[in-house]
Amino acid sequence: MVNTPEKFRAMKMARRRIAALTAYDYPTARLLDEEGVDVILVGDSVGMVVLGFPDTTSVTMEHMVHHAGAVARGVKEALVVADLPYGSCDTPADAVANSRRLAAAGAGAVKIEGALTEQIAAIIAAGIPVMGHLGMLPQHVKEEGGYHVKGKTPEQANALLEEARAVESAGAFAVVLELVQPGVAAYITGALGIPTIGIGSGNDCDGQILVTHDLIGLFPWFRPRFAKPEADVSKDIRAAIAAYKKRIQ
Ligand code: KIV
Repeated sequence: MVNTPEKFRAMKMARRRIAALTAYDYPTARLLDEEGVDVILVGDSVGMVVLGFPDTTSVTMEHMVHHAGAVARGVKEALVVADLPYGSCDTPADAVANSRRLAAAGAGAVKIEGALTEQIAAIIAAGIPVMGHLGMLPQHVKEEGGYHVKGKTPEQANALLEEARAVESAGAFAVVLELVQPGVAAYITGALGIPTIGIGSGNDCDGQILVTHDLIGLFPWFRPRFAKPEADVSKDIRAAIAAYKKRIQ
């Protein structure tokens, strides 16, 4: 059975952790799906780990549609969620039109950064499920001057809780908490009926998400501190290239 957004609320109630990873291409998506990953995110992190941009702000709708299609063709079971990139949701009408493009490319849901409740409600009214994204918002990295942990002060923690409640009330089926102080992420997780999916936010969210390149060591030039790699694929690639050169030269 294909994973549906409804299933994730049931998983939260059953205390079954949600496993989410990113993919941007067909073979990676197919491998993740065949290994039973619950959610495959076509993240706008594609801009950094695949397209060579310094951050996510250069990623366009054209990029996202292209990669969402490749991922969707590789997936049978997992829920494919595609990111709404920088500048694609300035108005509710833009958010709906761009979500429709991602759904037409094969995404089963979209993810939107920030507590943009009007946009979230409009996308859901158009029949497309929405995943929220709070805490550190990579699309705001330039204004923020880097990737900083959120929820360190009581004011920040309360603001995050209010945003999470607003995103839930607007109808999101889950919310990513990125770089949120772990105690605050745990508190928000207990306060919401929808699942939280953490990244760099401690172990007490209802699920975890990671950029697959960080999990498998495929982007050796930068790895976030919280990512614990389980493989060193870049080392294997370098060894294979060396072996090939030795064989043919
Ligand atoms: O773009 C992305 O990969 C993301 C995850 C890191 C949550 O938004």
